[in-house]
Amino acid sequence: MDRPHVVAISGSRRSGSYTRRSLRLALEAAADAGARTDLLDLRELDLPPFDPDAAEPDRVRTLKRRVREADGALLGTPVYHGSYASTLKDALDYCGRDEFRDTTVGLLAVAGGGSYASTLDHLRVVVRTVHGWTVPHQVGIRNAADYFEGEELVDDGLARRVERLGREVAANADVEPAARTEVHAPGER
Ligand SMILES: Cc1cc2nc3c(=O)[nH]c(=O)nc-3n(C[C@H](O)[C@H](O)[C@H](O)COP(=O)(O)O)c2cc1C
Repeated sequence: MDRPHVVAISGSRRSGSYTRRSLRLALEAAADAGARTDLLDLRELDLPPFDPDAAEPDRVRTLKRRVREADGALLGTPVYHGSYASTLKDALDYCGRDEFRDTTVGLLAVAGGGSYASTLDHLRVVVRTVHGWTVPHQVGIRNAADYFEGEELVDDGLARRVERLGREVAANADVEPAARTEVHAPGER
């Protein structure tokens, strides 16, 4: 593989979203590590709610193509009611194994309050279901308003964790599918 291609999907529609800012930082680190990067801002993409009966509009085809073309993905979400945001859920429901198989995934959650663990766990289960490969390193930011000033994540330790997430996804995005062979018995799904 030449340069790995890393897409970040930001699940907050808030204008000054800490999630979006954090993903930008992770993408900068991925780019410094040699990756081509792409920010999929779901606020801008403004997808319709997922409806299995509806025809797929162009925006959905764009989403799926950009995820499918990526070797690595960063999923970022605000913590909503102990889980992840419906905006991200809609985007993930449009996607499946065609988009995420053999994709290396990094997870990031931003909480206004004190806990984010369940949010990251819920996302990890979703990624497994669509056969993506999550890296063990993950980032949770609690009490987010304390750590951001304007456009900046001002806590050095957290910023390093975010950057490491971007670097790890970029560094592991080139694991070839052959090295990840799934072993099925004949007839097994
Ligand atoms: C509907 C809703 C539910 C929320 N639920 C939680 C929660 O369960 N725990 C928490 O710590 N913060 C919760 N928050 C606060 C958000 O996690 C917080 O505002 C976060 O910074 C939003 O991320 P953003 O800046 O990327 O939009 C909630 C906010 C909203 C709007």
